[in-house]
Amino acid sequence: MSSPLWFILALCSTQIGRVASFTIPQHAVDPVRRKADINTTRAGFLYGPAVAGGPLYPTGPLGNAKVAADVANVRVETTPNTILVQEDVAHAGSSSEQYQGLDTVEEYLLLYKGQWAKTLPNGPAPGVLTNYSQDLFFSMERLTNNAFSVRRLPKASKLPFQVYSSAVSKVANSSLQQLLQEGRLFYADHRAQSVFPKTTNKFAAACDAYFYIAKSGQFLPLAVRTNVGANLVYTPADDDADWTLAKIMFNINDFFFAQTWHLASTHEVVQIAWMAAIRTLSVDHPIFGLLDRLTFQLFSIQPLAQSFLFDNGTAFDTLFPITGTGARDFTTELYFNGTGAFQAGYFKSDLKKRGLLNGDGPKLAHFPFYENAAVIHGALRDFMHTFISSYYKSDDVVRDDKELQAWATEANGPAKAIDFPTKFDTRDAIIDALTHIAHLSSTVHHSVNTNNLLQISATLPMHPASLYKPVPTTKGDPSVAAYLPPLQAALAQFQVDGLFARPLLANTTRSLAYMFDSPTFLNGTNDNTRTAANKFKQAMQEFSKEVRARTFDKNGLSQGAPFLWKALDPLEAPFSLTI
Ligand SMILES: *[C@@H]1O[C@H](CO)[C@@H](O)[C@H](O)[C@H]1NC(C)=O
Ligand SMILES: *[C@@H]1O[C@H](CO)[C@@H](O)[C@H](O)[C@H]1NC(C)=O
Ligand SMILES: *[C@@H]1O[C@H](CO)[C@@H](O)[C@H](O)[C@H]1NC(C)=O
Ligand SMILES: *[C@@H]1O[C@H](CO)[C@@H](O)[C@H](O)[C@H]1NC(C)=O
Ligand SMILES: *[C@@H]1O[C@H](CO)[C@@H](O)[C@H](O)[C@H]1NC(C)=O
Ligand SMILES: *[C@@H]1O[C@H](CO)[C@@H](O)[C@H](O)[C@H]1NC(C)=O
Ligand SMILES: *[C@@H]1O[C@H](CO)[C@@H](O)[C@H](O)[C@H]1NC(C)=O
Ligand SMILES: [Fe+2]
Repeated sequence: MSSPLWFILALCSTQIGRVASFTIPQHAVDPVRRKADINTTRAGFLYGPAVAGGPLYPTGPLGNAKVAADVANVRVETTPNTILVQEDVAHAGSSSEQYQGLDTVEEYLLLYKGQWAKTLPNGPAPGVLTNYSQDLFFSMERLTNNAFSVRRLPKASKLPFQVYSSAVSKVANSSLQQLLQEGRLFYADHRAQSVFPKTTNKFAAACDAYFYIAKSGQFLPLAVRTNVGANLVYTPADDDADWTLAKIMFNINDFFFAQTWHLASTHEVVQIAWMAAIRTLSVDHPIFGLLDRLTFQLFSIQPLAQSFLFDNGTAFDTLFPITGTGARDFTTELYFNGTGAFQAGYFKSDLKKRGLLNGDGPKLAHFPFYENAAVIHGALRDFMHTFISSYYKSDDVVRDDKELQAWATEANGPAKAIDFPTKFDTRDAIIDALTHIAHLSSTVHHSVNTNNLLQISATLPMHPASLYKPVPTTKGDPSVAAYLPPLQAALAQFQVDGLFARPLLANTTRSLAYMFDSPTFLNGTNDNTRTAANKFKQAMQEFSKEVRARTFDKNGLSQGAPFLWKALDPLEAPFSLTI
């Protein structure tokens, strides 16, 4: 049991036949052996340099072996997915006549006609192909599939930029100052992107933008500023073509942000917490068993991100305005700038900090990300509550668990995790931390990544990865299509985005509903935990029914948006972080 081989087997989620039950260290059958095993792990599982930016990454013989196991596992799972993408791309590539030259914005819709059937079996999110040009579509994306860049401006803020008062008045029947004072003004800021190295022949602004709660109660866009060149400020009062281009320019920055942010905020935060856990918790610890399940394939992501997104000549260099090296450095900067903070990212803490929940102003009438994620987050917390209560009869037992306390010390010590709890004093504190890891691995990740890219966040014509003509220095260019990707670039964008989709995991035991439904984990636990896992699965199956039954209401809206967002359907999204 004490050999490195046992450690690797214990770490592989494919391990067979767990006989012994998980125990907290106070109840260890053989405490000396347990400590010796942890020492063996600590000697062989080491902190090495970051592989694709962000925090430390495993090295040492056991670290390398675990990385290799995760990489092998992800390859097996994604190979059939990659084949589907290749088939779709081949079909789309041989259908050029159907696109009519992509000379107008509308012709970009032809890219979807009879295409992407394998990677996107249900097509783009309902509403995308019909309502894409609506302002409400653009603004509600900020509260749905890209919900991590926008914040309410506190009433005492200094206005980040000015907008022609006639335009503000025309659009909102108000002034910026009045909107601010009423707590109705929101802001998203992508100016940080302006200083990162650029690719050739592709262009982008570095937009910041205002959104506002209108008198109707709707969350709407107010203005977009480019921050490059002539630094134009656009509003919905502009001509259609100008305003459409402004929304596209913002979308480019927001998509770049969402994708780099997701690496820093989900993959990298969970990665370093898991590394510290591996070095401190016995493989017999129930929390080790849980984390082993939640971190399925986790260490495969950094090498894949490096080789397929960041390396010279790969996805960022090919599709995006910022180079792969730039995107990696941007991700790292985000991670160390606050995105990598563990407790600050807790579900409600983050939303409150950004004034999206209990903000100083009117409540958001609709907040699809929150409304969907809250159901799942609540069910995750219920599970964690039962699981932790089944092993810890009181807060004292938590405080006396030396391995658990060592995890906190290790995370804040050699692992250099950011804002991880420095100790666990209560059952609630550990419940919160574990719920957060499950939340990052599911609700947060799949709301911005996974199937979302093909379904909505990277759909054309509104979401190219780059502009293909420089950011305009004057208004009045009537041809928006001239800025959009030419056919080969559009297909290349879909190809990369297709690799993130997970159609083959939908409706299987790899879906979110099955997060705790692993015999490897559950066999070592207890009846209460097994009952809670079952309850979680049932709650998620019920929620899936609700999500799948969603339709447009009499106003053509769903959760206040002119599109149907089903990304957090628990039978559609995976239970773990995915590439
Ligand atoms: C879990 O327990 C069941 C019933 O005891 C057994 O059939 C199964 O093989 C076990 N599975 C694992 C992965 O340990
Ligand atoms: C484990 O390592 C610690 C720190 O090096 C040492 O104090 C302890 O005696 C070791 N325990 C066992 C059982 O090997
Ligand atoms: C604009 O707001 C004022 C009060 O601030 C109101 O009297 C007026 O009816 C509004 N106009 C429109 C077109 O909604
Ligand atoms: C990180 O923070 C610094 C200081 O506030 C800021 O200048 C920089 O743009 C931030 N980087 C990113 C990627 O947001
Ligand atoms: C990648 O490109 C950067 C910037 O052009 C260059 O400095 C670097 O040497 C290249 N790296 C490799 C491995 O070719
Ligand atoms: C999952 O199953 C549902 C219900 O049978 C079906 O509508 C849906 O298309 C399936 N999802 C995928 C991606 O196959
Ligand atoms: C959005 O699109 C759907 C489906 O095409 C349509 O039924 C609905 O009325 C549209 N909503 C709005 C607000 O236009
Ligand atoms: Fe990911």
